[in-house]
Amino acid sequence: MQKIALVTGGTRGIGSGISRALMTEGYIVAANYNSDKRTAEEFHKETGIPVFSWDVSNYDSCKKGIEQVCSELNGTIDILVNNAGITRDSMLHKMEVSFWDKVINTNLNSIFYMTRLIIPSMREKGFGRVINISSINGVKGQIGQTNYSAAKAGIIGFTKSLALESANKGITVNAIAPGYISTDMTEVMRDDIKAQIIENIPLRRFGYIEEIANAVLFLASEKSSFITGITLNVNGGQYL
Ligand code: CAA
Repeated sequence: MQKIALVTGGTRGIGSGISRALMTEGYIVAANYNSDKRTAEEFHKETGIPVFSWDVSNYDSCKKGIEQVCSELNGTIDILVNNAGITRDSMLHKMEVSFWDKVINTNLNSIFYMTRLIIPSMREKGFGRVINISSINGVKGQIGQTNYSAAKAGIIGFTKSLALESANKGITVNAIAPGYISTDMTEVMRDDIKAQIIENIPLRRFGYIEEIANAVLFLASEKSSFITGITLNVNGGQYL
């Protein structure tokens, strides 16, 4: 039977690549987005993947959104890809409280909300795959990203603990830590900083969205059945 996959932030950037790859691989896919309706509609027109709008940083919105997905797709979620994330980069000594709150709510609290709502049906079914998108900067830190790094490091701890809780229920829980990938998020960075970062990547380039999507496909598949609680680094060889 075809498995159902839900990708948060699944209509843009890395998330869009993940949604497309899962669909090509034969999964039934639902893609969540927050506010960029135009991009979501274009994505839907192009791929046929149904799109659902809700704010992952709000528990009640997550609850309503998941109920809608399950009702429209007529089933429960087998594969949850917690991908939605934002940046609000700033040196800590200048960081607005709102920058801290927004990043922690969107990048970390969302993972609790989404997974808390979906894990009971996975436990009941005796199968599930939870794949959390962390970041190289949650592993090693980055100037200007105390908020983002704290959230992305938090995801790694969450992943390890939930993997332990879920192992006897047929559910694997893993994280992927992408390095710098060519997307809108990295596009807005200053050119001098980008050049400096590329100098420290052994493969001497930013990654492609498909290179993260391939890692998700592996962790979603039966081929990864003995892997749980890990953080898979996909970063062009950066030493951590
Ligand atoms: N490496 C080394 N030094 C760096 C640096 C870096 N990547 N980034 C900044 N610095 C240094 C600057 O040279 C500067 O040094 P001096 O004080 O000696 O001059 C100091 O840190 C302060 O930096 P700025 O002058 O740039 O300070 P600012 O307030 O104007 O800007 C900032 C701060 C917005 C955070 C800016 O530094 C910045 O954009 N940094 C990059 C942050 C980053 O890498 N974000 C990743 C976005 S992509 C993403 O997050 C996806 C993912 O998962 C990988």
